Amino acid sequence: MASKTNGLAANALATGTLVTDTTVDGRAYTDDGVFAEELVRIFTNGWVFVGHSSEIPEPGDYVTRTLGRDPVIMIRDRDNTVNVLANRCAHRGVTLLQQEVGNAVSLPCIFHGWTYGLDGALKGMPQPGGLSIARDDCSLDRPGQTAEHRGFVFANQSGTAGSLEDHLGPGGIELLDWASDLSPVGSLDLNAGWLGQEVSSNWKMWAESDLDGYHLGSLHRSLWQVVPDSQYQAAVMAGENIVKATTRDRGRGHVELEFWRGYDRQLAWLGVPRERVSDYCEALIERVGAERAEELLWQGPPHALIFPNLFLGEMNLAIIEPVAAGRTIHHHTPLLLAGVAPSFNQRVLRQSEAAMGPAGFLLPDDAAAAERMQVAFGHSGGVMDLSRGTNREVVEANGDRVGHVSDEIPGRGFWRHWHHLMTDHR
Ligand code: FES
Repeated sequence: MASKTNGLAANALATGTLVTDTTVDGRAYTDDGVFAEELVRIFTNGWVFVGHSSEIPEPGDYVTRTLGRDPVIMIRDRDNTVNVLANRCAHRGVTLLQQEVGNAVSLPCIFHGWTYGLDGALKGMPQPGGLSIARDDCSLDRPGQTAEHRGFVFANQSGTAGSLEDHLGPGGIELLDWASDLSPVGSLDLNAGWLGQEVSSNWKMWAESDLDGYHLGSLHRSLWQVVPDSQYQAAVMAGENIVKATTRDRGRGHVELEFWRGYDRQLAWLGVPRERVSDYCEALIERVGAERAEELLWQGPPHALIFPNLFLGEMNLAIIEPVAAGRTIHHHTPLLLAGVAPSFNQRVLRQSEAAMGPAGFLLPDDAAAAERMQVAFGHSGGVMDLSRGTNREVVEANGDRVGHVSDEIPGRGFWRHWHHLMTDHR
């Protein structure tokens, strides 16, 4: 059987050799050593999305997450500060919180009874006479840097990643602002909880498939058969030389599918005519002005990846959690908006269930493809081709690379940044 091979000896694996401008060595997905290095270079030394402040509206509200493989707590303090703390007792390392979401007045450890405040400071312990180190040194660890933009909370464990603003860049900031501005009060309200789907595939396959505009007509064919008038019909399915939807690489690993350019009507993303949500439209105009409101009503929310783990998936938001080289959890929650009628968010919730839920039209298909890719790359590799559209890629004045919705510009943009982080500057 003729096949492309990676041409590398099994013992010569080095991350700098795995990626070219248009190809990825399959071992980038399967090698345990590559995964371990990613945990350091990307998930420890870089900025990682933790959660949204609207998930913890009241003092003591918390969610538990991971930074790479390290468990953390995002918790609202009594002064309304959002703290990100290691979910690891400073004594001998037991996790403090087991639930994914809840409210706590303090953070007790089950093992020897040390108790921490909502800011991570040690508040008390049984039999304190034996404490042989300074009490101030017994606080919970924190990431070296924590920062927030429009309620999106990010952390960098090493404290060496530079500013969040630099990590996001103008493109990332614009995407987060865009998602938030869709609310008539300018804020998300992520209160529906998260559904996690654990899949036997590498985390990067999710970053790729979530931003792949080429597979919708084939892998998700069942969606077109059941919902023939969805917003994707005009955006993606109208024919290669007819569709107007595009792909965009915004740099820094942040990549996008611009389905909205191919929509055939306003509010296609919500699936309702304007008169059904007239109150929402008027409130949006009131806050952002008529011109921007009309843009938002056409575009709907972005479809984009904020490198490395935040997927702005139109009416969903997802976190890509790396578990092992061949194991990932894809968490998602509906993109509920603050300041809208309950019926509006109910509609978003129903859309989310249909697309991303266990019996939904999209995520189970994507999981099947990702698991089959993981199997196919096996142990010794093979090469993935990402060259589609290099013949028609355009670089805009701001450096963004754009192309046809089916082109693999997002994949190339993701891997370009991955290669930079894994080889160049750390
Ligand atoms: Fe937590 Fe000892 S391990 S108090």
